[in-house]
Amino acid sequence: MRIRSQMEIDLSLLAYNYSCLKEIAPNNEVLFMVKADAYGHGMVPIVKFAHFELGIKEFGCASVGEALKLREEIPDGNFEIYVFSDVQLVLKQAKEIYLNYRIIPVISNESDLDYFLEDQDFKNFPLTLKFNTGMNRLGIHYSHAEEVVKKLKQHGRKEVYHLLSHFSSASLPMETNKRNIEQRENFKNIKNILKDSGISILKSSMANSGTIEQGYGLEETHIRPGLMMYGPTSLLPQYRHLSKWKGKLISSLETVIINTFDIEKGAPIGYGASPCPGKGKIAIIALGYGDGFSTRYQGVEILHEGNVGKVVGRVNMDMAQIFFEKGDFHIGDRFVVWDHSSENFSRICDQSKTIPYEVFIHLTPRVPKVYLKR
Ligand SMILES: Cc1ncc(COP(=O)(O)O)c(C=O)c1O
Repeated sequence: MRIRSQMEIDLSLLAYNYSCLKEIAPNNEVLFMVKADAYGHGMVPIVKFAHFELGIKEFGCASVGEALKLREEIPDGNFEIYVFSDVQLVLKQAKEIYLNYRIIPVISNESDLDYFLEDQDFKNFPLTLKFNTGMNRLGIHYSHAEEVVKKLKQHGRKEVYHLLSHFSSASLPMETNKRNIEQRENFKNIKNILKDSGISILKSSMANSGTIEQGYGLEETHIRPGLMMYGPTSLLPQYRHLSKWKGKLISSLETVIINTFDIEKGAPIGYGASPCPGKGKIAIIALGYGDGFSTRYQGVEILHEGNVGKVVGRVNMDMAQIFFEKGDFHIGDRFVVWDHSSENFSRICDQSKTIPYEVFIHLTPRVPKVYLKR
């Protein structure tokens, strides 16, 4: 465990982001996506704050194990949990967890739907159905909506508890992108087929962050934000002008400078002896790929105390080299990789061609998480 490198998570900024979300979507219920340890921010503290302080009542996980952890570690929480991808409905152990802990499996294929409808233990359990409206990942194909209706009727089901689908291209324009338009149309058709057949839909959702940021998907009862709640936009750089998002990064990542030295242009640096791109000064920082500071960040620019540095040479397991043409820094100085503004964070993502989701999730348990409310 590091002592002077840490990921600081300011929960007041999660509250701020939630208020920004409510400005865009004042009338929608929020199903907050907290899979993958709340996108690397620590699922339990994030959910505790989101539920008890912000009043969020629905959370999305990827696996039964994640959902069970929430139930076990927050036993006094009065919230719903959905399991979205690794549902494993036919496993006896998983089935018992769904039933005993009130965890809702998202049914995303017809064999799971058959199993769910035929199993008497699920007879009174809420049915959540995911349709594939064009993403071609999980979900029952939209062209099978009539068959789904038939199955529901055969089993005396008159309602779908939550009907949902997911966009493949929400980081692209919602208004003009052909696939986004098609997916919206397909979802509308599915809803009409169900409603016209007398199946009522209690809740529906389609919008993830990129969609919500553009003010789309708000005609459904629910929205399903993930990334935006942690701060970043998920729109590609060339489309960011379309975003209404004003959120802030809830995390900052800081470390310390553990060595500095002057260097000449062309001098070898670290493993692989990469030539230094100029004359200046190197700061060795106490974060490497063993902490989640990825080898992909080689070449990325990071602003430190007003000077732009560049990650040079290969990132090591425990440290990385940052080159500055100028700058006054010393061993023991604090080095902020990213703060609550998106400046360094966006640079890291854009220049390393890494998605923000992955930059967060890269961080390993060696970097302690510190929670505060300012
Ligand atoms: C089904 C589903 N809904 C919502 C989300 C949230 O997406 P985002 O983090 O882009 O908001 C995800 C994330 O992958 C998802 O798989």
